[in-house]
Amino acid sequence: MKKILVTRRLLRSCEDKAEKTFNAILNSNDELYSQKKVIELSNGCDGILSSLTDKLDSDTINKLPETIKIISNFAVGFGNIDLDAAKNRGIAVTNTPDVLTDATAEIGVLLILGACRRASEGIESARQGGWKWSADYLIGKQLTGTKLGILGMGRIGQKIAKVAKSLGMIIHYHNRSKLSDEKEDGAAYHKNFKDFLKESEVLSICCPASKETIDMINKETIEYLPKGAIVTNVARGDIVDDDALIDALNRRKVYAVGLDVYKNEPNLNPGYLNHKTAFILPHLGSATKETRTAMANLAIDNIDEFFKTGDCKNKVN
Ligand code: DGY
Repeated sequence: MKKILVTRRLLRSCEDKAEKTFNAILNSNDELYSQKKVIELSNGCDGILSSLTDKLDSDTINKLPETIKIISNFAVGFGNIDLDAAKNRGIAVTNTPDVLTDATAEIGVLLILGACRRASEGIESARQGGWKWSADYLIGKQLTGTKLGILGMGRIGQKIAKVAKSLGMIIHYHNRSKLSDEKEDGAAYHKNFKDFLKESEVLSICCPASKETIDMINKETIEYLPKGAIVTNVARGDIVDDDALIDALNRRKVYAVGLDVYKNEPNLNPGYLNHKTAFILPHLGSATKETRTAMANLAIDNIDEFFKTGDCKNKVN
């Protein structure tokens, strides 16, 4: 039986599956392992079931034992793993696509609604009680007829587009390539990023973090957004230059933000904390029982498939 290190606690039914399929070293206290500890614990293992909280950089990967042949990431994103370093060591890296599309898109829509309709301020007022209703009290931005710019029209972006369209939003998108008419479903494609930003009254960031997308939303590009735009991010914090976005909020170039992901999670830039118009969540994208179960089961199946066939359909390097 292959031996694997599971770096974080999984839902119980998934840990049972891991133990049935492999000789699995579980993390019952859900301790946040240091890189050194991951290296130590993987001694004698054939694979690692990692999570987005494990920073598997080249230094760590180069120190993993020779026996490690696969890192199966319990996430669709894999920015926490140096893919090239893993490839050079002959280690396959896999992810969990598809199964978290719906849950993540739900949070993507929540971010749009929360930011546009001033949910943070509303929650705060309701908790305090005694608010004074008036015709102009906490007036927000209505979604109907508003242009939504989706940056990265993959599975999650398409799902957000579908829901947003049903709420009357007009969909624009920027992607490496134009989608088929069926997938596009009436959305306007912009090959040019700046032209896309100019249309984005509400921006929804849905693209993966990569060398090309890091800090794509920065001091210069923010200026292309319409005045009073809303910026939401359900993808990865690395895509946004936080100082530039906070500065844009301060000077009302950006009206509100809706964020679920941050650079240096969980230590988000404190500049967001004081902003009433920042609707912020602690990386809840895939946090439903159904989705976390499906993700962990897929991460386990990826390792199983890899050892049975020598390959895996969800290999990303
Ligand atoms: C992912 O899988 O990349 C999600 O961000 C996890 O919540």
